[in-house]
Amino acid sequence: MDAIADSAGTPVYIYSAATIRSHLRRLTEAFAAVKPLVCFSVKSCGNLSILRLIAGEGAGMDVVSGGELARSLKAGVPASKCVFAGVGKTDAELEQALRAGIGLLNVESEAEFENLAAIARRLGIRCDCALRINPDVDPRTHRYTTTGKKESKFGVDLERARAFFDRYGRGEFARLRGVHLHIGSPVYTVDPYVQSVRKALALKEDLERAGFTIDALDLGGGFGADYTTGQTPPVRDYAAAIVPLLEPHCRRGLRLFLEPGRTIVGNAGILLTRVLYMKQSGEKRFAICDAGMQTLLRPSHYEAFHFIWPAAPAPAFVPASREKEPAMAGLSPCDVVGPICETGDFLALDRMLPPLSRGDLVAVFTAGAYGMSMASRYNSSPLPAEVLVDGDRFELIRRRESYDDLMAHELPMLEHAPAAPPQARTALRH
Ligand code: LLP
Repeated sequence: MDAIADSAGTPVYIYSAATIRSHLRRLTEAFAAVKPLVCFSVKSCGNLSILRLIAGEGAGMDVVSGGELARSLKAGVPASKCVFAGVGKTDAELEQALRAGIGLLNVESEAEFENLAAIARRLGIRCDCALRINPDVDPRTHRYTTTGKKESKFGVDLERARAFFDRYGRGEFARLRGVHLHIGSPVYTVDPYVQSVRKALALKEDLERAGFTIDALDLGGGFGADYTTGQTPPVRDYAAAIVPLLEPHCRRGLRLFLEPGRTIVGNAGILLTRVLYMKQSGEKRFAICDAGMQTLLRPSHYEAFHFIWPAAPAPAFVPASREKEPAMAGLSPCDVVGPICETGDFLALDRMLPPLSRGDLVAVFTAGAYGMSMASRYNSSPLPAEVLVDGDRFELIRRRESYDDLMAHELPMLEHAPAAPPQARTALRH
């Protein structure tokens, strides 16, 4: 850790290539009977080196913007292995996806489909589409990341799905031949998946009876990650419940897509930060770190729990697992906060921690997913560095931004402003 902090500075995101590979392999093995195309959810962690590593394992990508598609292509992933979702795709993004030869376009509304169909016809490009449905199941997760309930901005509800196919299911260029769903994230129980797969398969059968071909089913992502040890069912438990439902359909040619993000990279990454100052305010102990809400937004945005611990704890303080309240003598409560000028800027509140001192390195666990990808430059903080550890080597995969990087896109106003018309100049003088 010291070597990485010395060479890359802090805060820094550190990922393990071995963990990413093993999570991917575990998932692929668990679902082997239905041969899914695993499309890694780029929004969870989009660094090009990470995408290359994941693509090297045979995975495709789940993208939700033109930027994520561009990233995936740059990482060498063929567009045919990319699926594109999102409620607000622009005309330019639809055209970009069509021209690239996207594998599956997940459509979220009637208005979007009409727009897509018109663009595909104008370009003369055919593409496979899936209708994103709301199976109306409750994933029992944070309300900000619940997506599959009926009143959601995503997809269309089941009752409208049949009418959607009746109206648009025979298009020549935008070929509607799949069903997509994503119920939320993270989902810590298997049951919501079982319920939604059952509903999706019933819809498929209904549509097939009506003469439509449905040869793609995209189950989205959302499998949990262990923010605390043992929090998530193993991926083979999700598979054991879902695969038997899917198998008969896959044997008859149904192509299955999965869009995991968090379960692949969540626990493959930590955020390493340095304690700048210790401070006592009334009864409270604060560890003020160089990472904060600008580096890892999840605690302040979702009140998310991330296990936090000194990177080099004294022997008495080596934890056996990631727990909300470790059973250990000598801990005391501490707010772990960042340098941002907001009270809501914290990584943890009232967390039981060992003694900490200025200069200590602190690791924030399960930060590989939705960490760097949600980082911002608030308070003019340069984005942090990213490092990938592979075997006994580590490599910088994104350098820390400089102050020049921070200001690189800003134009000096006077030089670039168009000259005001003469009347305006006169008016201004009076
Ligand atoms: N597919 C679709 C259509 C999605 O919307 C998402 C996540 C995924 C796949 C991947 O989900 P995962 O396997 O990573 O759970 N920022 C939040 C999570 C937002 C998830 C948005 N969609 C967080 O930090 O928890």
